[in-house]
Amino acid sequence: MSKLPTRSPTHEEVEIPRLASMGLELEDIAEGDEVQLSALVELAEDRGRPASHYIAAIPLATELKLAGKAPVTLKVCAGNCQRYGALDLLDHLVEKWTDAAGKFAIAPMTCLDRCDQAPACEIDSADGKLVLAPATKASLDEAIDSLSS
Ligand code: FES
Repeated sequence: MSKLPTRSPTHEEVEIPRLASMGLELEDIAEGDEVQLSALVELAEDRGRPASHYIAAIPLATELKLAGKAPVTLKVCAGNCQRYGALDLLDHLVEKWTDAAGKFAIAPMTCLDRCDQAPACEIDSADGKLVLAPATKASLDEAIDSLSS
């Protein structure tokens, strides 16, 4: 983590002990070293927690990764960027993914080295890499729609 935004944090991050216990739950539903997003969403619903909390737990509390290959991969910082709205972006992406399964994959990361422009996302596609920092729900929607159409 290099720098922080000059703005004050706008969100709470999930505490480490909670992430650790969610990490253990994820290990129970993992297949090899991967977790299916659909299984994670089901687990989150069962536990009454946002899916974004479990997605953040993947890079922060496990050696697992989210399964899924797609023409477009969205790398989302789930580290300190949580304090600037990264979890909201993840929940938005899960909703969008549910409507358009297969169109893109989500890859939560501990840091994308753009901490001063949190929340940070990178979109990898055949067209190259697009950095969105700070990312918003609207900028993610626009990027996904243009890249995957
Ligand atoms: S904490 Fe470094 S980019 Fe999010």
